[in-house]
Amino acid sequence: MAHYVGAIDQGTTSSRFIVFDRTGSIISVAQKEHEQIYPQAGYVEHDPLEIWHNTLEVIGAALAKQGLTPKDLAAIGITNQRETTLIWDRQTGKPLHNALVWQDTRVDPIVEEFARDGGHDRLRSKTGLPLTSYFSGLKLRWLLDNVPGAREKATAGDVLFGTVDSWLVWNLTGGRCHITDVTNASRTQLMNLESLAWDDEILALFNIPRACLPTIVSSSEVYGEAVGVLAGVPIAGILGDQQAALVGQACFQPGEAKNTYGTGCFMLMNTGEKPYPSKYGLLTTVGYRFGQGPTVYALEGSIAIAGALVQWLRDNLGLIQASTDIEPLARSVQDNGGVTIVPAFSGLYAPHWNAGARGMIGGLTRYANKGHIARAALEATAFQTREVLDAMAKDTGIAVRELRTDGGMVVNELLMQFQADILDVPVVRPKVIETTALGSAYAAGLATGFWAGTDELVRNWAVDKRWKPTFEQGLREDLYARWCKAVERSLDWH
Ligand code: G3P
Repeated sequence: MAHYVGAIDQGTTSSRFIVFDRTGSIISVAQKEHEQIYPQAGYVEHDPLEIWHNTLEVIGAALAKQGLTPKDLAAIGITNQRETTLIWDRQTGKPLHNALVWQDTRVDPIVEEFARDGGHDRLRSKTGLPLTSYFSGLKLRWLLDNVPGAREKATAGDVLFGTVDSWLVWNLTGGRCHITDVTNASRTQLMNLESLAWDDEILALFNIPRACLPTIVSSSEVYGEAVGVLAGVPIAGILGDQQAALVGQACFQPGEAKNTYGTGCFMLMNTGEKPYPSKYGLLTTVGYRFGQGPTVYALEGSIAIAGALVQWLRDNLGLIQASTDIEPLARSVQDNGGVTIVPAFSGLYAPHWNAGARGMIGGLTRYANKGHIARAALEATAFQTREVLDAMAKDTGIAVRELRTDGGMVVNELLMQFQADILDVPVVRPKVIETTALGSAYAAGLATGFWAGTDELVRNWAVDKRWKPTFEQGLREDLYARWCKAVERSLDWH
């Protein structure tokens, strides 16, 4: 009898395979980074074959570490960086182009063309999303327009489109399943949020042939069996990574919210069984749908750059050797010394959706040193989260009472304390911070009866540490006001 469930977590910077037991504890993990390809400013690409090969490698490595075989796995789930867009040949399985990563802004001119008639919010009522370069639909259009022969082949169904979940399932099943789950589909801007079907009007508007699109499935059901390294294991859960974290954090009640600090930072609040429109710059998105159960929606505040700023300080400026060096460097000073960093590397996402915003470091004096820069980099994530939390409160009238956090950056205790201070809300880190992988394992385990229901998952959730707010209101609001001033200056720079 299989005692474990596996999860493929294919993120923006790395791929992981994690094996969980029934209590949601990690039994084994393996991880591998892949190359970030920047052909020119604003372009961000990944090599789809590198992602697939790394995925196979980490699956093998995680199983080998604990002497496991596919027979030990009751099921596997998949969670993935969302919106990243791929096309490949149905016959050969070869990608026709590198994947266009969610942060890639090359379609900005197409966005503006469409926004001229009806504005940036013209598709919000159907899709919950503003027109921006972030989502997959216009990225797919760019590929079909720019890769020779792609449009004709896609129209004939010989070239397939998918986000990373589709690409992985297609490969894992030896080309048998071409599917995507409702959460990933809700990020293409091609799916109608209410009907959960591809929207003919939007397909016509964007000139996307239906024949290349995957079948939309629920987040939790047996889609098929894997071949190869996971031969015979049911693939039974798919969730976009941020929605997976919502599930992994057991946010099953309306009003419950989590914030995931990864490459970017994404806050999602469960809003129940009806799409909840946003007036304050958030996204309406599918949270999850387990089998034939109700569709649960979420409001999302997407922040493009969080951990990526720390990586930028490491890779582009050489300010630190390893990402973990950021905390001691930031602790080497008392405060930010007046320095503010707005990391608008791909424009600014929620709640601004300003494509022309560009990054800036403000408040420099002869006094400022690298400790202040490090501190300002961490604070940037916390300030952006404050903007999003304020928008959530305005949109829903719900004041979040405590924020569940997860993702790689939450090991940074300075950040967690500052986050509580600047929000004036307690911040809670659970025992398992790999909630993204855990959420997709949960989806797979629910579909195969490994877990009986969501009550069991709620019982698995446990607090590791809680940070209480300590700032006086005056200090908190002064710091936040300076942030807002810096943001104003970064807007419409380009
Ligand atoms: O929408 C993009 C998001 O899914 C990427 O997540 O964790 O790879 O930064 P992450």
